[in-house]
Amino acid sequence: MTYARQVRKAVLPVAGMGTRFLPATKVVPKEMLPVVDKPVVQYAVEEAKEAGIEQFVFITGRGKHIIADHFDHAYELEHQLKKRAKDIELRGLLEMLPQTGSLGFIRQQEPLGLGHAVWCARHFIGDEPFAVLLPDDLMVGEPGGLAQMVEAYDKVGGGCIVAAEEKPHEEVKSYGVIAPGAKKGNATEVKALVEKPKPSEAPSNLCIIGRYILQPEIFKELDRQERGAGNEIQLTDSMARLIGKMPFHAVETTCARYDCGNKVGFLQANIAVGLQRPDIAPALREALKKLKLCEMD
Ligand code: G1P
Repeated sequence: MTYARQVRKAVLPVAGMGTRFLPATKVVPKEMLPVVDKPVVQYAVEEAKEAGIEQFVFITGRGKHIIADHFDHAYELEHQLKKRAKDIELRGLLEMLPQTGSLGFIRQQEPLGLGHAVWCARHFIGDEPFAVLLPDDLMVGEPGGLAQMVEAYDKVGGGCIVAAEEKPHEEVKSYGVIAPGAKKGNATEVKALVEKPKPSEAPSNLCIIGRYILQPEIFKELDRQERGAGNEIQLTDSMARLIGKMPFHAVETTCARYDCGNKVGFLQANIAVGLQRPDIAPALREALKKLKLCEMD
């Protein structure tokens, strides 16, 4: 079986409650919080589009309907912008609209873990490779994170790819951790995977970050619905069972990754992205200087 088939579909799990950002996330889903002026989830969709993704499925929960609204027309607003000759703003809104029919939404119904969220997409994905993007992990760089993974996927002959980053040893307990094999360019062979190990039991400090290219065989493994770390159905456990059956690599991209699932990471993302935006970078730099950040050490 050859695995280097084109990756056209993506799964975006967005059912999480966002308790770390309460009260902001009482009504607004955490994926809709803005980094500068764009919701976190839109960055993931743009990154996926750049990597050649044509169809998207969001795994949602209750209270997440405004994510669907965000990717739809807002006729009243568009009409008002047109009337007021706000052409740039109008164009921005229209350009971000996905093609009709390219977006799907599936309710997860129960928060049983990331593996369960991905399993919910099985009928949408069918029998082809697909990407998973966790929108909380904002990846900034050119080319984008997923595009770099797709390039690696073609080079290594397909199979499964996870994005990876080395983390300080004491942080590995928050991640899926990789037992690394041979490294070729930016791709390291994956020998084993452990979800959220104790630092003393971790096979390395090379951790999975929220981007994956997976084969449909993963669904047979997820069908078992076995619970793992934190009593959740873990994607990592099912991926681990595919090792040896197909090529499996971890790719270290050149992108910076910001964890928008926690407050500091989210603030850091706002500053980092802001400093790259020509329209606000000079003013932001001045504003940051006024905070006298260096004196705060
Ligand atoms: C999930 C995955 C974990 C991965 C992490 C990356 O964990 O289960 O393997 O390392 O995303 O952000 P979560 O952050 O949902 O606990």
